[in-house]
Amino acid sequence: MPGRLIVSDHPLVLEKLALLRDKRTAPEEFRRAMQAASALLGCEVLRAVRTRRAVVATPLRRAKVVALDQSITVVAILRAGLGMLPGVLSLVPSARIGHIGLYRNEETLNPVRYYVRLPRDLADSYVVLCDPMLATGGSAAEAIRILKTDGAKNITLLSLIASRTGVGRVHAAHPEVPIYTAGLDPKLNDKGYIVPGLGDAGDRLFAT
Ligand code: PRP
Ligand code: URA
Repeated sequence: MPGRLIVSDHPLVLEKLALLRDKRTAPEEFRRAMQAASALLGCEVLRAVRTRRAVVATPLRRAKVVALDQSITVVAILRAGLGMLPGVLSLVPSARIGHIGLYRNEETLNPVRYYVRLPRDLADSYVVLCDPMLATGGSAAEAIRILKTDGAKNITLLSLIASRTGVGRVHAAHPEVPIYTAGLDPKLNDKGYIVPGLGDAGDRLFAT
């Protein structure tokens, strides 16, 4: 089954992406742009959440409405995924939150796990996995494996810039996981950075 890749063409998403890419963007504005882009893309990601029909009373009469019928879990891959949480949570403040701590070994580029804390009962939850950068795909593929091991069955990956390599790796390992992104970049450099990309997302976010 070929995996699903959705690259946004929304002008507001693309405007935020331009700010994120621009090396002149200072950390404060970078954080705001990441938050806004995550909310805009998150809206699309959550389009597929399960709903049910309901009825409410307006001041005039009863009205048929739609209500959410599934718990939502937002999971950030540390560190840079933290910058996406406020945007996604602004849409669903009641969502549960998980953290997966991974860093890339600078030589092998393989993800190294240092922290995992996830909500219980992921099996029926709509899980939105957030990491702004999908480079080699190693971190995202490992985070999805961890989520599946904990029982998650419905996972969507929300990124802001993806490389073709990363998309291919995630879809090879997890073909059922849709990937949403604001930009698809052609290549990686010899240090595993996305080119043109935006540089090191964690460093730009946290001014390290
Ligand atoms: C960055 C980024 C992703 C990962 C992507 O994290 O936030 O998690 O690299 O690269 P990959 O697709 O090749 O795995 P990093 O390891 O730099 O850790 P940090 O966020 O703590 O800086
Ligand atoms: N992590 C980043 O922050 N940027 C890249 O380009 C690749 C991995």
